[in-house]
Amino acid sequence: MLNYKQIIANKIKAPLSTAELESLITETADDSFGDYAFPCFKLAREMRMSPVQIAEKLASEIQLDEHVVKVEAVNGYLNFFVNRLEYTKSVLDEVTKKGVKYGNDTVGNGKTVCIDYSSVNICKSFHIGHLSTTAIGSSLYKLYTALGYNVVGINHLGDYGTQFGKMIVAFKLWTDRATVEKLGVQELQRVYVKFHQEEVDHPELTEQAREWFVRIEKGDKEAQELFEFFKKITLAEVMDIYKRLNVKFDSFNGESFFNDKMDKPLQMLRDKGLITESQGAQVVDLKDYNMPPCLLVKSDGSSLYATRDIAAAIWRKQEYDFDKCLYVVAYQQNLHFKQFFKVLELAGFEWAKDLVHVAFGMVSLEEGSMSTRKGNVVLLRDVIDKAVSKSLEIITEKNPNLPNKEKVAEQVGVGAVLFSALENSKIKDITFTFDRVLNFDGETAPYLQYTAARCNSLIEKAGQSRNCKIAPDFEVLNNSETLRLCKLLGAFPQAVKDAAFKYEPSIVSALLIDIAQAFNRFYIEHRVISDNVAEQNARLQVVEATGTVLKKGLALLGIESPEKM
Ligand code: ARG
Repeated sequence: MLNYKQIIANKIKAPLSTAELESLITETADDSFGDYAFPCFKLAREMRMSPVQIAEKLASEIQLDEHVVKVEAVNGYLNFFVNRLEYTKSVLDEVTKKGVKYGNDTVGNGKTVCIDYSSVNICKSFHIGHLSTTAIGSSLYKLYTALGYNVVGINHLGDYGTQFGKMIVAFKLWTDRATVEKLGVQELQRVYVKFHQEEVDHPELTEQAREWFVRIEKGDKEAQELFEFFKKITLAEVMDIYKRLNVKFDSFNGESFFNDKMDKPLQMLRDKGLITESQGAQVVDLKDYNMPPCLLVKSDGSSLYATRDIAAAIWRKQEYDFDKCLYVVAYQQNLHFKQFFKVLELAGFEWAKDLVHVAFGMVSLEEGSMSTRKGNVVLLRDVIDKAVSKSLEIITEKNPNLPNKEKVAEQVGVGAVLFSALENSKIKDITFTFDRVLNFDGETAPYLQYTAARCNSLIEKAGQSRNCKIAPDFEVLNNSETLRLCKLLGAFPQAVKDAAFKYEPSIVSALLIDIAQAFNRFYIEHRVISDNVAEQNARLQVVEATGTVLKKGLALLGIESPEKM
């Protein structure tokens, strides 16, 4: 693809390097002001002139050619008009040539990124609150992979803690293996909730739970075995959802994996004089950084969430030598991450700066938010099932003869759910509504999938008439709708990088929505299927490129594109 920013930068005779000039050039939002703009404000001091004067001077010195056809000085800006048909063709050529690889890059070659996401808790149901970490983490996984990184997806299982002692007591008292095998985590949850109710009047239960927890820690056979059973039941359920959501992990090393890996880091922190005693507990004081102390060892000698995260970060650095380690976890845990990142920094680990907490807001359903302990959670599986069955209804109504309706409904329902967590800036709290996420005309995944399928059907309709021997008549692409669309297609590779480096998949989803809307405007204004094969072939290139980018973008969000809809 022609690099217009570079071409333009080479034409500007200002006291800045070409790279600096290039970085200042931006795409214009409004075509009537040209295609690229260069602000002259930064040059005012050095050139001892007002920006307006600089713009006029620089404009008069620009050499126009076949790529840059016009330049205007407006209010301290240089506005450049490029050869628009050449631009359009250059984008289309690039997308056609690269196909599904369009948007990929090599910036990450030789580098590793660890992404800690989804990170489920054993014995707890997988509920709507886990949607964002799963969707955002999975999309980041795909984005970094596209940029050439070696990516390690880590599910840092919540598989350690005193609650497992309670779980064993509850299990033994109120249920059995066969029932749990049949009903799954739901049954574990039921007795766990019951434990908390009964505990109030029966303190001996609390004591028993403590004893069972000690037995787990000591590696007692029965305790271990029961715990493994709980783990198996929980993972079977989440794996099923991961499969439907197209989500992958390379490691399931969770909290318990670090049981025997905390002594060394703790000793090191002691040796560095970072640990102080506080009411029998061992903490790292973080007063100087305006944070409460980071608690690492309780007075009874047991470790904490932060202790395990410190051990895990050190282990991951050794094991994977990551360039960056991302933690896709809700903003409620902001303090936890700030604290343990700081402890690692104080311990002198230079790579502590490469740990990133990718925080996001809450998802709630219209009905209101939920709490696991009370047991009134909304399961992610139920949300997906409902989205899929509603999709099936809509598809059956819109296109009753569609083959593979069930499969398409699964792709659409799952896509709609994933997209709801990826469409907005991740830090925003969102309310999930089925009607909104499944609106085929709204800013939704089904709308994107539908537009991509429309591209397929146009190509199919053209069929035989798409006689490749007839050269496309590109003149029919010389109009504002096509230009607008092709500019958006041309912006895709940068959006992929921005989304990855800003940890913000919504940059890709927003661009895809813009592309779909621009395509639909193009489609209304310009008849694609036509008796004039030369014209049709030119427009089909636009259609094909749009389909390619939409499908690729959706794939980077973890969403499949049905062939037909
Ligand atoms: N299991 C934790 C939770 O549900 C999230 C773990 C995130 N990862 C980490 N390394 N702390 O809150």
